Amino acid sequence: MNSETIADCRVKVKSIYEQFDASHDWQHIERVLENARHIAQAEGGDWALIELAVLLHDVSDPKYKKAGEDPEQEILRELVLTDKERSDIRSIIRTVSFKGGTNGEPESIEGRIVRDADRLDAIGAIGIARAFAYGGAKGRKLYDWDEQARTVMTESEYRNGDTSTVTHFYEKLLLLKELMVTDSGKQMAEERHQYMLSFLEQLQNETDGKK
Ligand code: NI
Repeated sequence: MNSETIADCRVKVKSIYEQFDASHDWQHIERVLENARHIAQAEGGDWALIELAVLLHDVSDPKYKKAGEDPEQEILRELVLTDKERSDIRSIIRTVSFKGGTNGEPESIEGRIVRDADRLDAIGAIGIARAFAYGGAKGRKLYDWDEQARTVMTESEYRNGDTSTVTHFYEKLLLLKELMVTDSGKQMAEERHQYMLSFLEQLQNETDGKK
């Protein structure tokens, strides 16, 4: 792969992420790269493909994409890549998103690394910060202890549900630990998961959310 390609991709995606709220901004991409680097040290994989997939993985997120636009496809077309590299990157990105648990399993080691790296950024202290940043951007309640978490849902139910941010922990964030597929991802998820549980316990105590 041409060494300019990654630098070129960075410039193109950065200006897009700068327009997103703090839950999916450029700092999210930097953290996912760091997680991916850590996992790849143990698991291997083609680093250039991993890096490009991380850089591009949220630019066409349905939560942010404007109708009729597809920055992921546009940027992939413009970058100097082979057709095989383009299709590898697309298939890595396709299996990253959670979508209520409805999408397929990653086929490649690169796909498994990118998905675990992204999911690690959704849990732990940073996961908590991001969840409330996103909920705030959407005008959601912080918590609603009477609300029932939906455990089975279609992609559109998952996207359109307007549940409180704390309910989102039960619908997604607390499920991610079990969905990690790499050994390093599983190890890193453990501490972050425990931290979320103690956060929720403390929050329940402070807000009298006895069940
Ligand atoms: Ni992401």
